[in-house]
Amino acid sequence: MHLLYVFLALLSLSDGFDPNCPGRCSCDYVQSVQCYRLTEVPSAIPPTTKKLYISHSKIQHLQLSNLTRMLALEDFILLASGTESVENDTFKALGTLKTLELWKNKLRRVPSALPASLEVLKLNDNSIYVLHGSDFEGLKKLKILELKNNLISSLSDIFSSLASLQSLMLDGNNIETVAGPLALPHLKHMSMENNKLHLIPAIFFTSLQSLQFLSFSGNLLTRIPINLPKSLVSLKMERNQLKVVRFRDMKHLENLSHLYLSENSLSSIEGAQLLANLTTLELSHNQLQMLPLRFPARLQKLDISNNLIQRVTVQDFQDLRDLKHLFLDNNIVSLFEAGALQRCSQLSNLALEQNLLLSIPLRLPGTLARLDLKGNAIRDIAERELKDLKQLQVLNLRNNKISALDLKALEGLPRLRHLYLDGNPWNCTCSLLRAREVLKAKGTDVRGGQCAAPAERQGESWMSSKKIMRQCEHHLHLTEKSKETKKKSKPEEHSTIRINVDDDYYDYEID
Ligand SMILES: *[C@@H]1O[C@H](CO)[C@@H](O)[C@H](O)[C@H]1NC(C)=O
Ligand SMILES: *[C@@H]1O[C@H](CO)[C@@H](O)[C@H](O)[C@H]1NC(C)=O
Ligand SMILES: *[C@@H]1O[C@H](CO)[C@@H](O)[C@H](O)[C@H]1NC(C)=O
Ligand SMILES: *[C@@H]1O[C@H](CO)[C@@H](O)[C@H](O)[C@H]1NC(C)=O
Ligand SMILES: *[C@@H]1O[C@H](CO)[C@@H](O)[C@H](O)[C@H]1NC(C)=O
Repeated sequence: MHLLYVFLALLSLSDGFDPNCPGRCSCDYVQSVQCYRLTEVPSAIPPTTKKLYISHSKIQHLQLSNLTRMLALEDFILLASGTESVENDTFKALGTLKTLELWKNKLRRVPSALPASLEVLKLNDNSIYVLHGSDFEGLKKLKILELKNNLISSLSDIFSSLASLQSLMLDGNNIETVAGPLALPHLKHMSMENNKLHLIPAIFFTSLQSLQFLSFSGNLLTRIPINLPKSLVSLKMERNQLKVVRFRDMKHLENLSHLYLSENSLSSIEGAQLLANLTTLELSHNQLQMLPLRFPARLQKLDISNNLIQRVTVQDFQDLRDLKHLFLDNNIVSLFEAGALQRCSQLSNLALEQNLLLSIPLRLPGTLARLDLKGNAIRDIAERELKDLKQLQVLNLRNNKISALDLKALEGLPRLRHLYLDGNPWNCTCSLLRAREVLKAKGTDVRGGQCAAPAERQGESWMSSKKIMRQCEHHLHLTEKSKETKKKSKPEEHSTIRINVDDDYYDYEID
């Protein structure tokens, strides 16, 4: 807060002391001018200005005369200002212009005669409905072109003069067809999410030899395009209409490490092991009933949540030594063989919530830091199920059918920090209250939930009820001993690693 005041004070000082700074604008030492709520481009802007930023203004028509004096301009940004048209040649003479951003306006076409110096052109959120080859003529230095959320319906080879283009964003248009080849030898990123594509001709990719990141998510594609460039590192095909994936057509993609296929209609992914260097595979919201015979051997993250998987067997995950994150939640898994993940010696995050498990799977890898079993039909917790999980920090058993806790099972989890037990039909005996003492002494954060039995304790919260505490007082001679445990476990706390939440959006707090 304090810093903000200082900043504002400085801002108003600089305003006040710079006689050249126009009204409603602030000007700073690097020849940068920022203006809000204007009705015209200020005529008094210093001619040395390098960056002009205007937003939330009303500038319906931008005319050539409005910018003619600004010959040093490098960045021109006109945002959310209702701009409908730009007079021909308005930017032509600005020979040092590098960045032109005209976001959130009402433009119906790309401004004409853009200067050859341009490196970044962003025209997102306008009403541009057609692109012409002449729009981009001579832009040999252009590296980034963004036309997201416009009304473009087709794409032909209009970008051929963009010899330096590295990033092309066309998400959120109405593109139904593309013709090729797209001759962009330096293009690295291309995104055409949320369009209406149903077919990508093979020839489209023949001159995209540097393409690394490609997204066609949110289209109507029924197959993965063939002839994808060998340079590809990441391919997004989420929210399409894929029924099968022919991995044979992709096996030349030796650098492909990320493949996103969620929200399609896949019923099988046999052959995926051909993508030997894949590290991330996302398949959630498909119709998979079985796990494939083999997975790509280098997978680190596998998401098969929201499918129809029934069984997990010892054969399924044999090769996956690098696997760290496995999402199998929201399936109908009722059989999970003992030791099915034993070979996954890096696994730290296992999501099995919302399945049909009757018990905690046996012989889970000792590397697990987070185990989610919420919303199954588990009836009890046995010592042998949890005894190897020395790294476990988060255990979610919410909404199961557990009524009693085995103290030994919990004592064997030295690093447990968060335990979710609510939504279970707890039988609040005094021995359950002992578990409460043990957990409190360990410093575990517990959501206990309410008692279902005995009748007189129904609805009481067993982790905090004073009433039950009083009734059980004479049973709780454990208190002294558990204090000792706490002391002993202190050194452990120092070595506690933070739960790695880097690339997983997975939230165990969700009810
Ligand atoms: C542009 O300049 C013309 C005069 O040259 C002026 O009439 C008009 O108001 C200016 N428009 C904007 C948006 O500044
Ligand atoms: C502006 O340029 C386009 C083509 O670049 C041309 O068709 C149009 O007639 C021009 N408009 C004016 C008013 O000169
Ligand atoms: C694959 O990646 C490596 C390392 O980044 C790179 O040297 C190689 O050129 C890439 N292969 C292709 C076909 O782009
Ligand atoms: C995996 O990547 C390595 C090096 O990046 C490469 O030599 C190898 O051919 C790739 N394997 C496959 C099957 O693409
Ligand atoms: C609760 O536990 C007590 C003592 O073990 C037992 O007698 C009783 O039947 C249990 N109640 C329910 C509903 O399971």
